[in-house]
Amino acid sequence: MAKLIKHGTIVTAADQYQADVLIEDKIITQIGLNLEAEGAEIIDASGHYVFPGGIDPHTHLDMPFGGTVTADDFETGTKAAAFGGTTTIIDFCLTNKGVPLSQSVQTWHEKAAGKAVIDYGFHLMIGEITDEVLAELPKMILDEGITSLKVFMAYKNVFQADDGTLFRTLLEAKEHGALVMVHAENGDVIDYLIKKALDEGNTEPIYHALTRPSVIEGEATGRAAKLTALANSQLYVVHVTCQEAVEQITEARNKGVDVWGETCPQYLLLDQSYLEKPDFEGAKYVWSPPLRETYHQEALWNALKNGQLQTLGSDHCSFNFKGQKDLGLGDFSKIPNGGPVIEDRFSILYSEGVAKGRITINQFVDIVSTRIAKLFGLFPRKGTIAVGCDADIVIFNPNVSRTISAETHHMNVDYNPFEGITITGEPVTVLSRGEYVIKNKQFAGTPGAGQFVKRGTYNPASLGVTTKKEAVQL
Ligand code: URP
Ligand code: ZN
Ligand code: ZN
Ligand code: ZN
Repeated sequence: MAKLIKHGTIVTAADQYQADVLIEDKIITQIGLNLEAEGAEIIDASGHYVFPGGIDPHTHLDMPFGGTVTADDFETGTKAAAFGGTTTIIDFCLTNKGVPLSQSVQTWHEKAAGKAVIDYGFHLMIGEITDEVLAELPKMILDEGITSLKVFMAYKNVFQADDGTLFRTLLEAKEHGALVMVHAENGDVIDYLIKKALDEGNTEPIYHALTRPSVIEGEATGRAAKLTALANSQLYVVHVTCQEAVEQITEARNKGVDVWGETCPQYLLLDQSYLEKPDFEGAKYVWSPPLRETYHQEALWNALKNGQLQTLGSDHCSFNFKGQKDLGLGDFSKIPNGGPVIEDRFSILYSEGVAKGRITINQFVDIVSTRIAKLFGLFPRKGTIAVGCDADIVIFNPNVSRTISAETHHMNVDYNPFEGITITGEPVTVLSRGEYVIKNKQFAGTPGAGQFVKRGTYNPASLGVTTKKEAVQL
C-alpha cells in the first residue's frame, strides 16, 4: 500500500523544508505541500524530522576475530541498526590468503541471507595481491558491486598487509573504480610495543592504549596518503581517532589528493581513561585504534565541522563482556578488539552534534548518510530524500531525551559503552524501501527482507572533486 508522510520537516544534506512525501512501490514518487493520495496510509510526522535513513559504512557482523566471533549476526545487528535509524549497512567481508575472493564473498552472502532486516553491501578485504586476486578483482568490483577494498596496516600476523600490497591495491582500485579503505596504524611497531609491555609484566587493559600511541596512527595515515598520491588513487581512512591522523588527511586533501576520513562515536565521546576502569571493565573499551586522551575529541569534532573528516561509522564489532572480552584477563593483547555501536551512532551524532550546536542539521545528514552514499556508490538510490530514491526514511522526534543503556538496547551484547549517557532525539518510525522496519518504536520488520545492494564504482563527480587529475607529490 502507498504511504503518505504528512506534516513533517524534510531534512537533507542541503535543505530543510516542510513537505509531504508519497511512497509507492518502495520508491519516493512525490514530494510537495498538501499532497493527497487516495487509499494511501497516512503517517503523521507533525513536529518530527523526516531524514534519509542512516547508512553505516563500517560494521563487523558475525565475524571471526580475536579467537571468537562477534556477538551480533546479520539479524540482531541489522535490527539494532534499524532501531537506531540506520537503513543500510556496509559490512566487511574478510578474506583468507590462497582462498578465492568469490568464495569469501559467498561466505558473507550466506551470513546475511534470510537474516538482514535492512539493506546491506560488502567491502572486500585485500590481504595479498596474487595473479588470482588480480584476475578476480575486476569481477568483484564491476559484476558483484563490491566497490570498496579494505587493507589493514595493523593486526600483524592476522590481517596486516604490507605496503606493497597496499600500493598495488591502490593501483587496481584506480584502474577499476574502487575506493581503498585502510585501518591506519603501524602494526609492526605496535607488535614490538605489545611484546615489550607484556615482558615487563604490564597486562592490564590500559596497556592496549599505551602500546598504540596516536603518533603511530598519524604515521600510517600519512604513509597511506602518500602512497595514494603516488598511485593517483583514492583512499578512505576508517576510524580516525586522533589529531595526528586528521593533520595527515588535511595535508593530503589540501594538495588535492582524494583522501577521505571516517570517525566513530566512541572517539568523539569517550577517552583513554575508560580503559582504567577497575575489575577488568576497561576491556569493554578496547578498540583499535584505542580511545585517546580527551584533547583529540576537539580535533575530531572540528574536522567533522570543517569537512576534513566526512563520515561517521559505528565500527560495530560487538563482544560480550562475560565470555568474550574476558579472553584477555591477564593479557590485554588477547582482549577481542571492538564494541557495540551500531544502534547509537545516528542518535549520538544528532544529540552531541546538532543539539549541542557543534554541526548543522544538514551536516548531520551528510555525515550519517548522504556522503557515505556518495563515497560508496549508493547515491542517489540511497542517502537522500528525493523523487526516485529508495524510500529509506527515518521519522525522528527531536523533542525527547533518553538514557542509553544495555537494559533497553537491542544489540545482542551484555553492555553498552555509552551506558548512562542521556541523549536528545530518537527515531520513531523507520522505513526500508517503503516498508516498516520500526513502527512507533516497535520492531515491524522481517528477517530476510534486507537486500544485498550492488554498489556503483567510485564517482568523483558525485563527490564534487575533479574527475581527471595529475598525480601530486605529498
Ligand atoms: O577494535 C576494532 N576496531 N575492531 C574492529 C576491527 C577493526 O579494526 O575495525
Ligand atoms: Zn586490474
Ligand atoms: Zn580497523
Ligand atoms: Zn572495523
